[in-house]
Amino acid sequence: MRIIKTENYEKMSSVAAAIVGAQIVLKPSSVLGLATGSSPIGTYKSLIKGYQDGIYDFSQVKTVNLDEYVGISGENENSYRYFMNDNLFNYVNIDKANTHVPDGMAADKNAECKRYEDLACSMGYADLQLLGIGQNGHIGFNEPLDYFPLSVHEVDLTESTIQANSRLFEDESQVPRTAITMGIGTIMQAKKLLLIAGADKKAIIEEAFYGKITPQVPASILQLHRNAIVVIAEN
Ligand code: GLP
Repeated sequence: MRIIKTENYEKMSSVAAAIVGAQIVLKPSSVLGLATGSSPIGTYKSLIKGYQDGIYDFSQVKTVNLDEYVGISGENENSYRYFMNDNLFNYVNIDKANTHVPDGMAADKNAECKRYEDLACSMGYADLQLLGIGQNGHIGFNEPLDYFPLSVHEVDLTESTIQANSRLFEDESQVPRTAITMGIGTIMQAKKLLLIAGADKKAIIEEAFYGKITPQVPASILQLHRNAIVVIAEN
């Protein structure tokens, strides 16, 4: 595992975008596993700039997102589908038909989880998976547990995640209580992992990447991946 320390959020974003961009340059038909949250916004901005400057071409890129809230549709501005359109897809030459996010409105959640795992598998899983990290060490929505969930599943969000994510909703009661997320196994299938974390994540970064590997800190499993890069902002 490589840990790259950068000065601040802007530099972290530029470094992460350079790694994602290099992936697209080297393999134009890459499958990118993508993430939401405030951590990747700067990375997406930098990728959009690279597209506008004619460096990155998304025409053959396919994407598969980590997770989605249950019970809100893609038109809802708090949904992760909306986030992806609004922060990246609408501003680059990607074919939206090649972008995938779990369907939080699916009537049969188990069938949707299976469909999404099969889809990721049929795409050969991600060439590069971008990840943020929750304050409790969650990746995607894999919350601390006694085991590492393998495949796509519906998950109950913890109180701390509901509280942390409520900043984007009108109030806490509006935050969905469950989500569909890639499992740790789905994430670990990616050929390369790229986790980005701002300075507010220092304590959990220490625990996850300099501590023991445990499902109580889901991100700690990255220590076992062959090709994991963590880009941290120091300030
Ligand atoms: C959410 C997402 C995660 C993300 C995490 C951290 O719960 N499901 O994928 O990594 O929040 O978000 P932020 O980057 O806003 O701190």
